[in-house]
Order: sequence, then C-alpha cells, then structure tokens
Amino acid sequence: MPEFPLAVPTCFEQVADDLAAKGWSVQHDVFSEELVAALGQACRQMWHNDALTPAGIGQGSDLAVVPEIRGDYTRWLDECSPRACQSEYLQILEQLRETLNRSLFLGLDSFETHFALYPPGAGYSKHLDRFQNNPLRMVSVVAYLNQNWQPGDGGELRLHLKEGLVDVVPTGGTLVVFLSDRILHEVLEAHKERASLVGWFRRRPLNPLLR
Ligand code: OGA
Ligand code: MN
Repeated sequence: MPEFPLAVPTCFEQVADDLAAKGWSVQHDVFSEELVAALGQACRQMWHNDALTPAGIGQGSDLAVVPEIRGDYTRWLDECSPRACQSEYLQILEQLRETLNRSLFLGLDSFETHFALYPPGAGYSKHLDRFQNNPLRMVSVVAYLNQNWQPGDGGELRLHLKEGLVDVVPTGGTLVVFLSDRILHEVLEAHKERASLVGWFRRRPLNPLLR
C-alpha cells in the first residue's frame, strides 16, 4: 500500500471551467487531511531547521530580498529531501495539468513549486506572478497547509478583481488556481506561521534559451 493512495480530486474540471470563465478558482477540501498534515509538517520542520531561505522579488541579477514587500521563506520542492507526501502532491498536480491541457489547450508542460512559510508579521504586497522577462508562467497554484486557521489569524490571499476584492483564508486543503499574467493579488499580514505550497505551470518556451 502506498503511504498516500492517489486520490484524484473531482474538482479539477470545475477549476478548468472557472479559469475559462473568470481566470481564477478557489476549491476547498481538495487534499486529504493526512496529506495536508504531512506537507505542513515538512514545511514547518524545514523552517525550524533554518532550511528555508528569505524569498526575493524579481529574477536573475534583479533578484532582491525586500522583507517589507515580501516576507516569506521558501525552498523549491526539487531541492528538498524526498518525502512520500511531496511525490503524492506532485502526482495530484500532474492530474490538474492534464485536465487543464485537455480542457483549455494551454500547452502546460512543466510544474515548479516551492514551500513557503510566512512568519508572524510577514505578507506579500500586491503583484502579478509572471515576470516581465519570463513569459513562461501561465497558471499559479497555491495549496494551504494550515490546520485550524482562525478568524483574526490574518494571512488571507487577497485577489484584486474587476468585480472587487476576494479574500481567501489559508485553511489546509484549500487550493487556489489563477492565470499568472492576469490576476493581481497580495498576501495580507499573517499573525501566526502560515505554510503553503506555491507553484506555477509553465508552457514550453518558443526559444529554448529562455528556459
Ligand atoms: C506568491 C503568492 C500567495 C499565497 O508566492 O507569489 O502570491 O497565498 N502567494 O501564498
Ligand atoms: Mn503571487
């Protein structure tokens, strides 16, 4: 028996429909409690072992750490020790990639994701996820790893939409998916440790040197 038997969430067709209709989707209870607990424990353990590094903004030689703008600490999944929960997460996200390609013909060909930990006081100012000089990020995916997030704990993901603001509580099991070049968003100040996995589906570069 695998530690985490693969359960493909039934909501992925709904995610594809939402992306086509409005560019974003929020789904609850997407992952099992066991999987959320194992991923959250991995993230918090790395945080307490100083294995996460301050996240920067920008890319390449423009990369800068500016805690007033972005205060989280991250580690790419492919730079973490292998864990069954991480493989399980990647297998589930592979199903999402296939669903989005089948339904929306987005030509998504890879997925990159990192753990993120916002300590108390940290947030991330309003931004878009697609770098000006890196057009490959198509779809952003955030999975929350916090059990028992209470009103007043802060750390909401705020989407800035034409129709107004939408605040998403970072409760474990919630998945947010949105078009990386389209949806402005920010992370409101967290009042306790806030763990997540943030990732991007990318399309294949037209010019392979871009990758
Ligand atoms: C990001 C981001 C949102 C969140 O890391 O780019 O916008 O809710 N994260 O963690
Ligand atoms: Mn973002």
